[in-house]
Amino acid sequence: MFSRNAFKAFRQATQNASKRFSTQTNGPVKASTYNALMAASAATAIGSGASLYYLNKNAAHANMEADGLHPADHPFPQKTLFGTFDHASIRRGFLVFKEVCSACHSLDLVHWRNLVNVAYTEEEVRDMAAEYQYMDGPNDVGEMFERPGKLTDPIPRPYPNEEAARAANAGAYPPDLSLITKARHGGVDYIYSLLTGYCDPPAGVDIREGLNYNPYFPGGAIGMAQNIFDGVVEFDDGTPNTASQITKDVVTFLNWTAEPELDERKKIGVKALLMFSTLTLLALWIKRNRWQTIKTRKVAFNSPKNWEKK
Ligand code: HEC
Repeated sequence: MFSRNAFKAFRQATQNASKRFSTQTNGPVKASTYNALMAASAATAIGSGASLYYLNKNAAHANMEADGLHPADHPFPQKTLFGTFDHASIRRGFLVFKEVCSACHSLDLVHWRNLVNVAYTEEEVRDMAAEYQYMDGPNDVGEMFERPGKLTDPIPRPYPNEEAARAANAGAYPPDLSLITKARHGGVDYIYSLLTGYCDPPAGVDIREGLNYNPYFPGGAIGMAQNIFDGVVEFDDGTPNTASQITKDVVTFLNWTAEPELDERKKIGVKALLMFSTLTLLALWIKRNRWQTIKTRKVAFNSPKNWEKK
């Protein structure tokens, strides 16, 4: 008895409430006006958030000189969601590293064998490694000896230690380049802008003897001089050897040394997306299947005879 009355009262109340909200026209705010106001305020909030983000991202900061100029966004294919490395570019980039950068920079995390089937054939890598002499030993009589490089040797270092590197570069230490694209804010874009960004210092900026002006380098004064110019490397595949092409290739190569797993990672990502989306659909289908006996059930209440009188 009680429950039936309660149900009736509840139904009445909800009906009244929905009537009030949907058809009331003489109240302070009409439903349609209310909706329009809500939409406008949501749009304003999203719009102002987006403008703040945009302004913050593109603003010139007072400490720009200390932070370095923000690098431009360059269309490297590996930067896009499903994009992979341009391996011809990695091949040319290694040549640039070998002929230019390796005079001062080490590449400790890369061994000759890592290049095989990435940018060079095994034969080519064996021949390149054999051009360098490595200290090995001791031999039968306990002496160290020099032998030509093998696939298992690391890429040779220009200096035996940091002190020697600093002494040869006016106190500045040329960092190891194996992970450099990950170790610098801006990644590949920063390295590209840095290598192509050398220019004369603006009026009023004094650069100490032995340093060079580069607006992309934090502080502006860098120990490394410009070393990429048009034609500084000859490519064996006929690619024009302009400074920008040479830089793009060496930056692609350095990105590969820092993230050699990138191609594989993206391939696995695509597979995982395909697999998990299929599994999601399957799970939804099974859920519908399992629940259908319950979802399609109708619960009806038939009052027993003489219910009211009890
Ligand atoms: C003549 C020696 C020399 C050569 C050749 C050279 N560098 Fe450098 N590089 C340096 C020195 C020295 C520094 C350290 C600069 C400093 O800290 O002021 C440096 C620093 C760097 C940095 C780090 C900048 C930073 O943000 O800290 C990168 C990246 C770099 N070099 C890339 C290259 C690449 C790529 C090449 C080849 C195209 C190259 N370098 C060739 C000497 C050299």
